[in-house]
Amino acid sequence: MTTLTTVKIRQWRPTDSVAMLTEMLHRAYRPLAEAGMRFVASHQTEEVTVKRINSGTCFVAECDDSIIGTILYHRPGTSKDGGWHSKPFVACFEQFAVEPSLQKQGIGNMLMAHVEKLAQADGASEISMDTSERAAHLVAYYARRGYRFVEYVQWPGVNYRSVVMSKAL
Ligand SMILES: CC(C)(COP(=O)(O)OP(=O)(O)OC[C@H]1O[C@@H](n2cnc3c(N)ncnc32)[C@H](O)[C@@H]1OP(=O)(O)O)[C@@H](O)C(=O)NCCC(=O)NCCS
Repeated sequence: MTTLTTVKIRQWRPTDSVAMLTEMLHRAYRPLAEAGMRFVASHQTEEVTVKRINSGTCFVAECDDSIIGTILYHRPGTSKDGGWHSKPFVACFEQFAVEPSLQKQGIGNMLMAHVEKLAQADGASEISMDTSERAAHLVAYYARRGYRFVEYVQWPGVNYRSVVMSKAL
């Protein structure tokens, strides 16, 4: 049985399976796609997974040698979207998921706490993310963790407007 004590957060390794990570992302994001929100992670190819991993620092939650969660961290000032995420004092994260059968056990909290700590160490005064404005449960999830509304963005390739949220560190 998976218990929190057996879960560790570590950086992505080149020997990890891109296929398995991509499949886990598809499984985790499927309910959002079924609710009509076409998040990139719900259908991205392995090539896109690699491209995204290489755009930042990918962390995984690992249990019994299996990857059961992930988060992609961007150091302050390294995001190129031109909005809040790109500000020099703002770190951000994306591609955030936990294996569906292991959700609601605090693994998401562990992954977020990990990048928030890293952002502080990197000198960021804010950490941000974005999600669909229609995903009320996710907006509430982040709000409960101190993330506040910053701006709306319409990203290419998704069929919803995104809400950018940020937390002061
Ligand atoms: C969003 C996501 C990554 C969160 O991961 P998670 O591991 O389920 O998150 P947590 O377990 O830390 O917290 C989720 C809820 O589980 C419950 N929970 C957390 N730890 C718990 C525990 N030890 N015992 C019982 N319940 C617990 C809480 O209700 C918590 O929500 P709350 O603290 O806001 O009330 C996950 O739901 C997911 O992969 N979703 C699909 C993809 C997605 O939406 N990604 C984000 C796109 S912006």
